[in-house]
Amino acid sequence: MATDRTFYLETFGCQMNAHDSEKVIGTLEQQGYRRVESEEEADLILYNTCSIRDKAEQKVFHRLQDYKTLYKAGKRFGVLGCVAQQEGEKIFARAPHVSLVSGSASYRRLPEMLSRLEAGEKRITGLDDRQTEETFETEFTARQNPYRGYITIIEGCDKFCAYCVVPYTRGKERSRRSSSVLDEARRIADQGYTEIQLLGQNVNSYRDPEGKRSFAELLAAVGETVGIRRVRFTTSHPRDFTRDIVEAIDAVPALCDHVHLPVQSGSSRILNAMRRDYTAEEYLEKIAWLKAARRPISLSTDIIVGFPGERPDDFIETMDLLAKVEYDCVFGFKYSARPNTPALTMIDSIPDEEKARRLQVLLERQREIQRVNYAKHLGQTVEVMVEGFNPAREQVVGRSSQNKPVNFSCAQAIAPAPGTYLNVRITTTHPNSLVGQAV
Ligand code: 5AD
Ligand code: SF4
Repeated sequence: MATDRTFYLETFGCQMNAHDSEKVIGTLEQQGYRRVESEEEADLILYNTCSIRDKAEQKVFHRLQDYKTLYKAGKRFGVLGCVAQQEGEKIFARAPHVSLVSGSASYRRLPEMLSRLEAGEKRITGLDDRQTEETFETEFTARQNPYRGYITIIEGCDKFCAYCVVPYTRGKERSRRSSSVLDEARRIADQGYTEIQLLGQNVNSYRDPEGKRSFAELLAAVGETVGIRRVRFTTSHPRDFTRDIVEAIDAVPALCDHVHLPVQSGSSRILNAMRRDYTAEEYLEKIAWLKAARRPISLSTDIIVGFPGERPDDFIETMDLLAKVEYDCVFGFKYSARPNTPALTMIDSIPDEEKARRLQVLLERQREIQRVNYAKHLGQTVEVMVEGFNPAREQVVGRSSQNKPVNFSCAQAIAPAPGTYLNVRITTTHPNSLVGQAV
């Protein structure tokens, strides 16, 4: 085992990646490595990468370029995650100072790959593909988030939406046993966490290998874990989003008043071209279930503008859907062609300026919707979980159950610790945040 070897790890991309990094850090520490805060201090420099859009993908190559000279000082470089899986050995050609390339489906082999690296091997790959049946379960997770415990319930994706690289980078869908998920929830609660986020590319496709629990039942059971006050889950696919999920939220107070349900487009014609397997009407029906819930459930979504063939009338349908749903948060993206995906063969004829224009129109409209939505909280008292402190503004920062950012002042001399719950009276509202005073 290595003695005082150090590593630097930087994470790009989604929460799945953030949580994978927690597992990678735990595995490395188990192998005797110590984490350091800069590339310069580290023996091993790792980037956990994202390839969801072209811009995300380019980041790792910029980073590798920036620190290339460190290779001469004997430092080793590794590329992990989605770009690693997607580009594979091509990375060695593009960045010859890289010695290790591994996708997420191969992380369980990290200890072996690290030994080979230490033995001086220069070209190590972990590129298990869609054949793998295994999930990356490790007891060595080094949790980095002070207030939220992540639990993976399903890995990979079998949906093959026309634009999406994930089925190729994260492999085939495989669910984790519900008893293993509940054991981890228990352990997290014992460590003092009160918030859990269940993770998967498509949590609604969850199929318990033990056959004991549906996704909604698992969600409810996690929400009933003693000590757990908030449970979130991402991400949902509208096609598999079932009514029993809303019933679970109704029945279990710890399940947060927030659902992220990516729609991608308001045009059924484009949804069909995207291979999303639902129409705008079917999506709106599911939104109606959520709006009929006992508690007000905050809704958020992802939208892609400028998908190949998107006409102005399709875009208007997306704008109409925004007005109907009245989301509290929208992540909008310009379509970006991705390797291997079916949409790559479609003609991407919408100029980048037009994509940018549509995105701007969409986000401006959404800002106005949020201005109205957030203003409804004026004068209300909301429960906030503290996430940190903003010294510049001397404000505590946190989030409501609805996932809305709340910045507030507090009479206590010492800022409350992350994970603390406080009631906050809302005195000012913005389109993206609430401001108030602890009561
Ligand atoms: N181009 C633009 N946006 C994309 N997304 C996924 N793939 C692409 C792509 N090729 C967006 C989707 C998804 C979110 C995570 O990223 O909206 O829900
Ligand atoms: Fe990016 Fe998707 Fe990979 Fe997450 S799963 S890091 S969003 S490509």
